[in-house]
Formats: sequence, C-alpha cells, structure tokens
Amino acid sequence: MTTIDSLSDMTPVARTVEISELPIPPYCGTTLPAIDYDAHPAYGGMLPKPTFRERLYALNVFLRTFAFVTIRRIVDYDNMPLLTKEADFSGLNAKTALRYILMYARIRASRAIGTLTGARRPAKPANLALLNRIKSDGIVCLNLKSDEIDKIRSVTNPGFAKLDERRAGIPPEKRKFDDNVYWCTRSADPEAFAAVENIFKRYGIMEAASAYLGRPAGVKHINAQINDQDLAFWKRVFPDTQLPDPWGSYLHIDATYGMLKCAIYVHDIGPDGGPFCYVRGSQNAKIGWFEGMVRRTNDFSGFSGRRPDARKKFMALPEFLRKKADFGGDLQDNSPDVAPLREGHFAATSSYGNCVLFDGNGMHRGGMVNKGERRCLFILLAEI
Ligand SMILES: [Fe+2]
Repeated sequence: MTTIDSLSDMTPVARTVEISELPIPPYCGTTLPAIDYDAHPAYGGMLPKPTFRERLYALNVFLRTFAFVTIRRIVDYDNMPLLTKEADFSGLNAKTALRYILMYARIRASRAIGTLTGARRPAKPANLALLNRIKSDGIVCLNLKSDEIDKIRSVTNPGFAKLDERRAGIPPEKRKFDDNVYWCTRSADPEAFAAVENIFKRYGIMEAASAYLGRPAGVKHINAQINDQDLAFWKRVFPDTQLPDPWGSYLHIDATYGMLKCAIYVHDIGPDGGPFCYVRGSQNAKIGWFEGMVRRTNDFSGFSGRRPDARKKFMALPEFLRKKADFGGDLQDNSPDVAPLREGHFAATSSYGNCVLFDGNGMHRGGMVNKGERRCLFILLAEI
C-alpha cells in the first residue's frame, strides 16, 4: 500500500487518504470481448433458426426499447432525481407523471442557465492522485478509518434492519435481486446521507467524482444491500443445458450513464464473501455510442436473459445487434478474449480497502457470495 498525501496548494483540501496499489496489470484489450453467438453451444449451436415472424417480432421489440433508451439519454435520466425511490412516491399515475415532467423541465432549465452563466461546472479536485487513479484504473480502493465505518454502520443500521425484516418474510429461493436492497431516502434516512457526504467531502471523493464526470456531482442514492450464498444468480447460467458455468459469469458493464459508484463494506469481506471485482482499466475500452446503446437496449428489453425464450429472441436479432451489457455469462472459457480479462481481473477484498470507488462503464461484478453473507452499501454519485 502507498500513502498519497493531499496536495497542499489545491482547494478544497482533502484529508490524507490511503490508496491501495492494485496487484495486477491493467486490461490489455481495447474493446469489450467479441462473442460469436452463432457458434455458441447455448445459442446458435442448439437453437433452431429463427423464423421470419420471430425476426420481425424481435426487431420490433428492439426498436421500441432502443427508443426508450434514447429518451432516457436525452432526458439524462441517470442524472435526475428518481421519484419512484422516494419515500412519498404513490405509484405511477397522471399526477406523478406530471410531477416528473415539471421536475425534469425545471432541472433542465436551471442546468441550461447554469451552463450559460458558468455557474454549472465540475468541482476542482481536492486530491489529484485520487482523480488520476480513477481515470487510469476505473477503480480506487480507499481505507476509511474504523470510527468512520462505525458511524456508517450506526446510521445505516435502521435500513439494514428493515431489509432483514423484509428478507425474513421471503423464502431464500423466492428472493429477487430487489428484495435484497433497501433504498435510503433523504427524507427517511437523512443521517445516512449526512454521514456519507461528510466522509466523501473529507477525502475529496465528491470533488474527484465531479471532476471525473465533468459536471457537478453529489450523492444521488445510498442502497443497503445484503447478498448471501442462497442468492446464486451467477450459477446455472444456462439452466436448460449441461454446460458448465463460465469463468466470466456476471461480468458486465452498467446500463446507466454518467455516474460513478462506490461500495462501502460495513464488515470484512474475503475472497468467498462476494467482494466487488473489476477489470482494471477496462473503463477505457472503446465502446462506440451506437454499440453502447445496443448493449443497453438488449439488457432493458430482456433479450440479455439466458433462459431459452430470451436466447431465442436474442438470436432472432440481426447479428450486428447481438451485443449485451451483461455479456459475461456468454463468454466461453476457451475464447481468446478471456485471458486478458483474467489478467486484469481484480477482487477488491477488505485487504485492499473498505471503500471502493468505481466507474460502472468498466467490466465488473460482485456480490457472488460463496460463504456467509455480504452487507454492503452502494452509493451512486451523479449530478443532483
Ligand atoms: Fe454493475
């Protein structure tokens, strides 16, 4: 580990922060892995050729979802407040739709004015080392002090308690991903936001995120998440086949745009405890605008699923549209693309830090618990 001091001539000044050196080389590829779906044993190798009708249906769904993803980008959805996760959200109806539209209009207008007047600009980084590391590696592991972790633990205890209660009411085999997540809100959990924001400001994390994203940034969401060995979503990748699970299972890029994320471990996490994993430097792999949209469209449309029905729909798409953001499960171990991924694959166990800042545009995965339970906070940093 190395200790990197904050720069004394920069304002604001961040507290000295320990940044762990990563023990592996960066990803040497320049793109995401290419997958030959025609030759894949769970796709072209076993599925019947799609009919004209199936091709038409798949293309229709794809185009409609592509339009949806485009609108999300145009309205900058990922950098807007998410009313559905607020404590007072009453369901999607005409009233809430109007509230959304007015809120978006107000925020876009105020951002436009801020851009014109120069008031809307990224923060000056308080710690250049932190910014440079996230730019080069896409992931930074920091060590928060034990009193800071204690504070985070105490302010998020009510959230984890609610999560425990909810999970206790659902048999493990019936729990879905969202059943294991509690969304803190500013109205219901103000102490959680205050504690995280204080710590982020102290270490210059907020400013580094803003400078990295090139826009103002703050804490948009805090999620308390519990994963355990019963939630084996990365196993039995192709449930209708005898194919072994590939090494790359669950490796993905995020479907979101324009945000940084941070995982805070509230207890020690070892190799079997589901640590966050990242392919070092893979956020710099070249993904064109159209390719990025195609990958996200397939994830949103459900075509990235791996049950037979989803695979059939996916294979009914023209070949140039067969790309996923959640691609890892389709990556065969004998592919030449796997070696560079394995080489740059880093498991951020507690030995490297308890606060992991990362860019979700790089290849990553986490929460794959082999033994016990992982309790972790996920923080989304975006323009708010
Ligand atoms: Fe992700």
